Amino acid sequence: MTLQHKENDITLYLNNVRKQINQHLAKLISKLEGPKTLIDAMTYSLSAGGKRIRPILLLATIDAFGERTEKGLTVACAIEMLHTYSLIHDDLPAMDDDDLRRGKPTNHKVFGEAFAILAGDALLTHSFELISSLNEADISSDMQVELVRRLALATGPEGMVGGQAEDLIAENNPHLTVEELENIHFNKTGQLIIYSVIAGAILSGASMAQMQELEQFAYHLGIAFQIQDDILDVEGDIQKTGKPIGSDYQNEKGTYPKLLTIDGAKRRLTEHIESGLQFLRNTNINHDKLEQIAMYIINRDN
Ligand code: IPE
Ligand code: IPE
Ligand code: MG
Ligand code: MG
Ligand code: MG
Repeated sequence: MTLQHKENDITLYLNNVRKQINQHLAKLISKLEGPKTLIDAMTYSLSAGGKRIRPILLLATIDAFGERTEKGLTVACAIEMLHTYSLIHDDLPAMDDDDLRRGKPTNHKVFGEAFAILAGDALLTHSFELISSLNEADISSDMQVELVRRLALATGPEGMVGGQAEDLIAENNPHLTVEELENIHFNKTGQLIIYSVIAGAILSGASMAQMQELEQFAYHLGIAFQIQDDILDVEGDIQKTGKPIGSDYQNEKGTYPKLLTIDGAKRRLTEHIESGLQFLRNTNINHDKLEQIAMYIINRDN
């Protein structure tokens, strides 16, 4: 099979899974009750598009174990809701102060800051409600507790929110080292990406050894994902990324291109993907799609 064929295959696969996720998200949103403006604000950002890479990773992991992917759909959508909350808050004037997200005006530009904050809060809390309310024969209560516990860990003060705080603290710091930056990227972005893979592994009944290898794979994937995000902030195309270019420079953020130059950042990105793939190939699961998703992540332009 040529590389071209593989690219077409993965594009087709990503589009199909994205469609499945979007349909399930729409179903979950339609069940939401609450003040109309709040629901509208939540729906606005959720349905604005987005690559859905985290839910895709979860479903692709279940697929790699040869399990029924449908059982992961609700957890996948819960992750996307939580991720969307993080974007709404990340764009707020008090944070990155950005005007464009997923090709549309940011949430606070449309609904005002108060409703953007509340829409984020509601997406966050609702994601936990969804996971703890799962009622499927092949998902045990032990699995559910583990899914909730790990999500809280990955996205709380020792995870994503901690990373967002470190990202703000590091602004305008000329002494920031690459090691410190890698830790910020691990926390603010990597931990939710790791969770997405691990949640798929939990739902598939993975062994401890498999979980450890997948965790290492996803560690490198998560850092690589944020390095590419930093690169796109410098040389991306607003029409494709759907968000402003040069936001990091304006906010004096610590980024890989800033610390290592664009070429250095690209080299580091490739190294992380290569390291991640080595761990992935050690697993005894059918990792073909996960491998292609990793390649898509380094080559993405949006
Ligand atoms: C952007 O995430 C924020 C980061 C953590 C880098 P994505 O690049 O996954 O954004 P969407 O979901 O596709 O909009
Ligand atoms: C955001 O990082 C990470 C989270 C939202 C947790 P960035 O600030 O680089 O993300 P973008 O570039 O605005 O999407
Ligand atoms: Mg930010
Ligand atoms: Mg930002
Ligand atoms: Mg960015």
